[in-house]
Amino acid sequence: MRVVVLDSPQEVSCRAAELFCQTIRSRPNSVLGLATGGTPLGTYNALVERYRAGEVSFAQCTSFNLDEYVGLGAEHEQSYASFMRKNFFDRVDIPHARCFLPDGTAKDLQAAALAYEAQVAEAGGIDLQLLGVGSDGHIAFNEPGSSLASRTRIKALTERTRRDNARFFSSIDEVPRLSITMGVGSILDARRILLIATGSNKASAVRALIEGPLTAQVPASALQLHPHATVVLDQEAASWLTRIDYYREVEHIQCEIEASIKQ
Ligand code: PGA
Repeated sequence: MRVVVLDSPQEVSCRAAELFCQTIRSRPNSVLGLATGGTPLGTYNALVERYRAGEVSFAQCTSFNLDEYVGLGAEHEQSYASFMRKNFFDRVDIPHARCFLPDGTAKDLQAAALAYEAQVAEAGGIDLQLLGVGSDGHIAFNEPGSSLASRTRIKALTERTRRDNARFFSSIDEVPRLSITMGVGSILDARRILLIATGSNKASAVRALIEGPLTAQVPASALQLHPHATVVLDQEAASWLTRIDYYREVEHIQCEIEASIKQ
């Protein structure tokens, strides 16, 4: 796992955007795995800036989002479909017909989950998967206890996640109790994974996912199994790590190696 500690949330967003741009530069028809939440907003803003500056085009890309609330239609203001349109899809040149999210209003949610897995496979799998992490260590809506081999399915939200997400709704009572989410196993299928975390409320989850044991109690710890996972953190999110000096040293060496390859 590559651990990158940067000074500020702005730098985290820039680094994440740079990784997406590199991916698209090397493969213009990349399949992007996208995430919602407060943390990725800066990444989307940085990507929009680069798009407006003519540095990147999403015209040939396809995207798959991690999850959606059950019961909220794509037009609902708090649906993740609305979030993605407002914060990213409507601001860049990605064809909307190739932007996929799980369908939280499907009559047969289990069938919709299976169909979503099939769509990802048909697109050739995800090249770069963006992830945030919940304060309880969840990724997507894979709450603590989720099987590390889980696939796209229906998952109940914990009270803590509903409380964390209540800030986007008028009250906690409006936060749905169920989600349709890619599983931990589905996420691990991506060719590369990029997890971003900022702020002191993520410090405990970040330490558990990087330095703790591999456990279904911290679904994000499954990234330890992935051969190409990068975790980009600001100082606050990294503040509970015990081997931070080592990560900085490794990153310094890694950057030198990459610079020498470019020359
Ligand atoms: P946040 O959510 O970015 O809003 O903190 C992260 C997550 O729950 O994945």
